[in-house]
Amino acid sequence: MKVQDADVKDLKLAADGQDLIDWAAREMPVLLLIRRRFAKEQPLKGLKLAACLHVTSETANLMLTLKAGGADVALCASNPLSTNDAVAAALVTRHAIKTYAIKGEDNDTYYQHIESALDHHPAMTMDDGADLVSVLHKKRESQIAEVIGGTEETTTGVVRLRAMADRGVLRYPIIAVNEADTKHMFDNRYGTGQSTLDGIIRATNVLLAGKKVVIAGYGWVGRGLASRAKGHGADVLVTEVDSVKALEAVMDGFRVMRMDDAAKEGDIFITVTGDVNVLDRTHFGVMKDGVLLANSGHFNSEINLKALDDLATGVRQVRPNVQEYKLADGRRLHVLGEGRLINLAAAEGHPAAVMDMSFANQALSAEFMAKNAGTLERRVYDVPDEIDAEVARLKLSSMGIAIDVLTEEQKKYLSSWEEGT
Ligand SMILES: NC(=O)c1ccc[n+]([C@@H]2O[C@H](COP(=O)([O-])OP(=O)(O)OC[C@H]3O[C@@H](n4cnc5c(N)ncnc54)[C@H](O)[C@@H]3O)[C@@H](O)[C@H]2O)c1
Repeated sequence: MKVQDADVKDLKLAADGQDLIDWAAREMPVLLLIRRRFAKEQPLKGLKLAACLHVTSETANLMLTLKAGGADVALCASNPLSTNDAVAAALVTRHAIKTYAIKGEDNDTYYQHIESALDHHPAMTMDDGADLVSVLHKKRESQIAEVIGGTEETTTGVVRLRAMADRGVLRYPIIAVNEADTKHMFDNRYGTGQSTLDGIIRATNVLLAGKKVVIAGYGWVGRGLASRAKGHGADVLVTEVDSVKALEAVMDGFRVMRMDDAAKEGDIFITVTGDVNVLDRTHFGVMKDGVLLANSGHFNSEINLKALDDLATGVRQVRPNVQEYKLADGRRLHVLGEGRLINLAAAEGHPAAVMDMSFANQALSAEFMAKNAGTLERRVYDVPDEIDAEVARLKLSSMGIAIDVLTEEQKKYLSSWEEGT
């Protein structure tokens, strides 16, 4: 449904969406504390902000926090399949947030929605995958001077932005929210680890116990996923290109091998590398009949769907989010969620409790960027350590957990070199 300043599926879904937003808020105490302070201090007063994030109930809570801080916000989706239509409707009707996102939108609509968010003339961008920054730099050069800076949520976006900065084409500063310890150690590891399996289970109702689960990539996401799959009783196989990470996987108790070999053994394949064509034609050629192929990396480029399409004699949808590719020799390979992030395509993305920390980092980084407007260089910055420590402190305190504090004697000891045994 198109209304002025919005393009969402159906505004009548708003009541359900509001319930979802409230439900997520129960698990987002840190963001709510920040929201209360923002409402008093108005650190983002008058700031036009465009956000390109997964339109979920957790993101809605971030939007409300930014708005409470005085920002004028427009939101579009960072993936065509990750929008919750009810949440999008509630953002428009209950909170007057310009929202452009419809679950299942085609590629053209996806990019039109990004353009609509940019029509808002943001002074700050908030990305998950760097599509806003990319469209702004490629198609809206005249608007770039209006932008004081931006933030980026995920690994893949940070990689793209660093590539832009290295080539000298990034035209404004970005804070890499992903690089905060309170983001990737929790969101990527525990959030994606759990929600990826949730997506696979919801899409297929498969039993993980006893299955051979192949995980491509043993970074933050891969580690979380591997330990959770093991917890379900799966036999976990890991593939890597980085020798240190591969060694870590071995010592964590997983079998590590090349994908050429894993392809012959696996029942379920999950790519989390941020790379392209990790599952490719040669692998499809040797996989067993009935395997499941899922991706939880940012883009739908990790499974070479074009090659699979070429090999297939027929493709049919056998369940929601499950496409069966039939090969000439009769084998059937099943692609989940069109190869897009399965935790968002078939489940609800990360639990609110981890998004609480990721989005607390987003809100505080936006505040930092607004305060330091004009003083930062055109490059990718890490989240300041004070913000990271503050988010962890608030989270622990919301969980009722107290930690020790260094005594003066301990501080002196830890900063000296003279004392030995
Ligand atoms: N689904 C989600 O909600 C979600 C959440 C967080 C991150 N992500 C995405 O997940 C991906 C991984 O994120 P991360 O934080 O774990 O990144 P990371 O950089 O920590 O890990 C990626 C790993 O993949 C490995 N790798 C690269 N190419 C490979 C290949 N061809 N074969 C095997 N391994 C390969 C790298 O060596 C690295 O260890 C990124 O695209 C990120 O944006 C998704």
